[in-house]
Amino acid sequence: MKDVIVLGIESSCDETSVAIVKNGREVISNVINSQIKIHENYGGVVPEIASRCHIEVINQVTKEALKQANMTFADIDVVGCTYGPGLVGALLVGVSYAKALSFALNKPLVGVNHIEGHIAANYITFKDLKPPFLCLIISGGHTHLVHIKDYTDFEILGKTRDDAIGEAFDKVARVVGLGYPGGPKVDKLAKSGTPNIDLPRTYFDNLDFSFSGIKTAVLNLNHKNPNINKADLCASFEKAVTEVIVTNSMKAMKELNINKIALAGGVSANSYIRESFKNIKNAEVYYPEITLCTDNAAMIASATYYNYINGKTSDLTLNAVPNLKLGE
Ligand code: KG4
Ligand code: ZN
Repeated sequence: MKDVIVLGIESSCDETSVAIVKNGREVISNVINSQIKIHENYGGVVPEIASRCHIEVINQVTKEALKQANMTFADIDVVGCTYGPGLVGALLVGVSYAKALSFALNKPLVGVNHIEGHIAANYITFKDLKPPFLCLIISGGHTHLVHIKDYTDFEILGKTRDDAIGEAFDKVARVVGLGYPGGPKVDKLAKSGTPNIDLPRTYFDNLDFSFSGIKTAVLNLNHKNPNINKADLCASFEKAVTEVIVTNSMKAMKELNINKIALAGGVSANSYIRESFKNIKNAEVYYPEITLCTDNAAMIASATYYNYINGKTSDLTLNAVPNLKLGE
């Protein structure tokens, strides 16, 4: 079969990224322009500022992706972009740009679900990984335990009923004074702490998650004891949330009799979480390289490829869907 070169675009939150990926697995270029430095001043992502930043840089980022790949638009076979879930104004920039490219180049267009992109990051890191397997998507906006039946066929086994796990990491970081984005900072500080503080773990009779209870518990503890050891608090928080995601994942593995599990999303960069999953007996554990865990367009290009070869393309009526669900 002829090689398929995909140009992928990601703009759902605070990263403008354009990547060129061959046959869904081989990254030729992956340019990421992060807005973290701008949003840092506000303690979180400001949607309007995010949209404006995407518009300002998307053309440059695309040119750079082509340059690094030593390619021109003529080499592109398919254009893919994230069309949800995410911030509507931010998504619209990538969607409009992708539609314009697809129309001008007369090449197929594929709208990709951002969560599907996170899952696909594993296909880039592990060239032999094939469905079926389980995937735990843990990011700033999502906490999903999914049965990947096939490349474009998903069954959600459990999801958060309130906050995403990454939101909890970011909130804990803010409360203990670490700033935004908190996940990597909690990860680092927790290494010098001892998990000696008792925090609540929430379980349901299905595989759903809840992280608002633990978030509030950390908030209250810190408020009542301003001198509490922050490193111990971070270590205890990490231990508690990890215990919950590991327990639910193990339950799912048992119920479905599947021993392959992949992690995905920004929080899967967490060193304690990675280590804990590696220690699950008889499990085959996968997680993407760090740069592919957080938002990037290479993962979107990979998901674009699998949609394209399965005949799932979009037309120029494609629109941003901020609350898009996986499997829709
Ligand atoms: O996947 P992502 O870039 O964006 C979403 O789709 O939401 O995930 C961002 C989230 C943030 O909450 C960030 O704090 C968290 O991933 N994160 C981490 C780590 N690196 C990023 N959380 C814990 N430990 C890390 N090392
Ligand atoms: Zn993401």
